[in-house]
Amino acid sequence: MGCRGALACLRVFRVKARQASMKEMAAAAKTIAGMFDGRQAYDAAAFKAVAETIRARTGPALIAEFPSATLGAPSGARLEIEQARAEFEALANHMGTLAEALAAKARQAPVGITSDMRMGSGPAMGGGSLLGKRPAAEADPAKLPAEHLLHLILQNCSSCHSKFRQKVR
Ligand code: HEC
Repeated sequence: MGCRGALACLRVFRVKARQASMKEMAAAAKTIAGMFDGRQAYDAAAFKAVAETIRARTGPALIAEFPSATLGAPSGARLEIEQARAEFEALANHMGTLAEALAAKARQAPVGITSDMRMGSGPAMGGGSLLGKRPAAEADPAKLPAEHLLHLILQNCSSCHSKFRQKVR
């Protein structure tokens, strides 16, 4: 992608930077998924590092990567982001909350994967709660097992992409 003029070049630079940031998040999420499903050796320090990679790129940081002037082709960011800022920001912030909870768990991660890190081990999944069943997405993220948080994070990536990302290549 070439550019001519300071503003045009700044736009290209910002788009490339956020695409790189998204790719880093994707690689990090893939690493964590691999550790949980056994395709990749579990390592507490690596888990902590990649969870932090996701955390640092979500919430306000993610929102800041999409200023109005950088939306639309040739970027993969739809112009609709501008019309639906509240929804876009809610997705980014929800992602921030989930990634924060995952990073907090990763900071205390044990040397090996324990059963309480597994999907289905959290109180929200138990179904026997005195408060009745609540959808998992509404449960306190801090109480969810790490693997469950990862699944919610991946769902959030898809929710945002299906609405706000377009194919340009
Ligand atoms: C709040 C919205 C939002 C969230 C959340 C989000 N993305 Fe994205 N993502 C986008 C948009 C918009 C683009 C297009 C960016 C562009 O081309 O300028 C994109 C682009 C990408 C790309 C392509 C980058 C490239 O090289 O063109 C990848 C890979 C990606 N996202 C992965 C992820 C992963 C993995 C997650 C979750 C951990 C995630 N995204 C969460 C909005 C989001």
